Amino acid sequence: MKEIEKARIQDVPQMRRMINRFADKGEMLPRPLSELYENIRDFFVIRQGEQVIACAALRISWSDLAEIKSLAVAKDSQEQGIGASLVKACLNEAKELGIPTVFCLTYQSAFFEKFGFCQIDKMELPRKIWTECYHCPKFPDCDEVALIYNFEV
Ligand SMILES: CC(C)(COP(=O)(O)OP(=O)(O)OC[C@H]1O[C@@H](n2cnc3c(N)ncnc32)[C@H](O)[C@@H]1OP(=O)(O)O)[C@@H](O)C(=O)NCCC(=O)NCCS
Repeated sequence: MKEIEKARIQDVPQMRRMINRFADKGEMLPRPLSELYENIRDFFVIRQGEQVIACAALRISWSDLAEIKSLAVAKDSQEQGIGASLVKACLNEAKELGIPTVFCLTYQSAFFEKFGFCQIDKMELPRKIWTECYHCPKFPDCDEVALIYNFEV
């Protein structure tokens, strides 16, 4: 399995291209460069040589909640376990931080269910997470599915 590393600032243009390629096809939400730079410390990447072939972020929402965001695996590198390894890296980081619940908003609910995520009504998520949604082009007609993962206590 390819090594998972923390993202570097130089990775951002490639991450953005990869994310926005999927976003153009409606598979995930686009991310502006400013957001990627501001949140670069949240991101894991997988590289092949100098090329970023996958990324994912764990964003802390509150004392008991974090979100997996911007998970993307380049088309040529899919179906090799890379997406799974990034989800596991995000879950591990949440666990190490002592955060009991991780959620995601996605169009790929079946993928996240493979790791034990369960679908929930978006309205069950705390209001705080919606502050970011105000900037989303789809707001207020969000068609993503919300899923949560709870660590066993
Ligand atoms: C969804 C995505 C991240 C999956 O990444 P990947 O590296 O191809 O996935 P993996 O190879 O790690 O797959 C792990 C398992 O999930 C399955 N799987 C992969 N994509 C799936 C999907 N869209 N729906 C259901 N299951 C899926 C695989 O078959 C594999 O199953 P197995 O363990 O039984 O063999 C990738 O297709 C992607 O980047 N898509 C575009 C962006 C996107 O939709 N991101 C989602 C988050 S917003």
